[in-house]
Amino acid sequence: MVKVSAPGKIHLIGEHSVVYGFPAIISAIEKRTRVKAEKSEKIKIKNEVYQKETEFEIEEAVTAAKKSRELWKKGDKKSDFSELFSFLRSDFWKRNQATLGLIFERLKVVKGGVSLIIDSNLPTGVGLGSSASLSVAITRAIAALYAPQISNQKINEIAFELEKLNHGRPSGGDNSVCVFGGTIWFEKGKIEPVSLPDFLQNLIIVLTPRRNLSTGDLVQKVRNLDKNFRDQKIKNIAKATYKMRRALEEKDVNKVKNLINIAQDNLTELGISNPEIDGLVKEVRKIGGAAKISGGGGGTVICFHQNKEELIKLLKKLKVNFEQIKLGAEGVKVEKS
Ligand code: PMV
Repeated sequence: MVKVSAPGKIHLIGEHSVVYGFPAIISAIEKRTRVKAEKSEKIKIKNEVYQKETEFEIEEAVTAAKKSRELWKKGDKKSDFSELFSFLRSDFWKRNQATLGLIFERLKVVKGGVSLIIDSNLPTGVGLGSSASLSVAITRAIAALYAPQISNQKINEIAFELEKLNHGRPSGGDNSVCVFGGTIWFEKGKIEPVSLPDFLQNLIIVLTPRRNLSTGDLVQKVRNLDKNFRDQKIKNIAKATYKMRRALEEKDVNKVKNLINIAQDNLTELGISNPEIDGLVKEVRKIGGAAKISGGGGGTVICFHQNKEELIKLLKKLKVNFEQIKLGAEGVKVEKS
């Protein structure tokens, strides 16, 4: 039996613009997906979060992976992945089947299955990278059983393929930070570590209700906007991201706050915020803080103020669901063999 865990993440800045080849700064957080795995004849999955379990043949998984890949190619040609997304949502386990089929193929496992128990304290569908974290944890767990010598680089490549099935054309930033951990500068697949100033070692996140669109749907929504309008906003976020890297190096708290707010304004203009989040952002700004969405849109709002007590006082007054999180968590790890 192996036990593997992978972190979730927040986007400090650069979500959406990263999809167009610009950089993003992403940090792993200490909320993790945990997978226990052991060899088995078939594929068995128990999902503790949803309290559901299933069992299927490896052939079914391989067929689901093949079909998903065909639909991905079709979607890529049309720049529209809705057929792929409907297929993967057609049954509660379809996505897991395609995931397992693809991992078995990529790891060249010719004989044998796996029994998985999945658990997580990472909320899903709120921009904290739950799908990437799960893709990474499952890939690492199966590799630990069948191909233990495999590098994290290879795990990341497979997880990126899985993320493509989940989101169409993702940037690859989420899976990279879930594999390597810490805080990263992610630009066109290139990954560099970023060191955060003391004032940003932890952040407050506010969890607003789960969004009803997936990351793939939200990326598509932005892609469907008028090109000139969209490109302008994407460029604004990209500019703020480059400036953020300097501001972090200079440990300039005011610049960091200002850039978080600029990113949020542009994300709002791209249509991925909502009135509840806009209201919260306004209140945080009123006390001299900064706040923005993290990830595809809706769900998590990262909030920052150099005087944390003042921010906590405000969030309590607003009666929102918040918690403090540590940034720069460790990447995927095999916890016990
Ligand atoms: O919502 P999340 O946690 O899946 O983050 C998505 C980030 C995007 O930039 C919108 C998409 C991507 O592929 O990077």
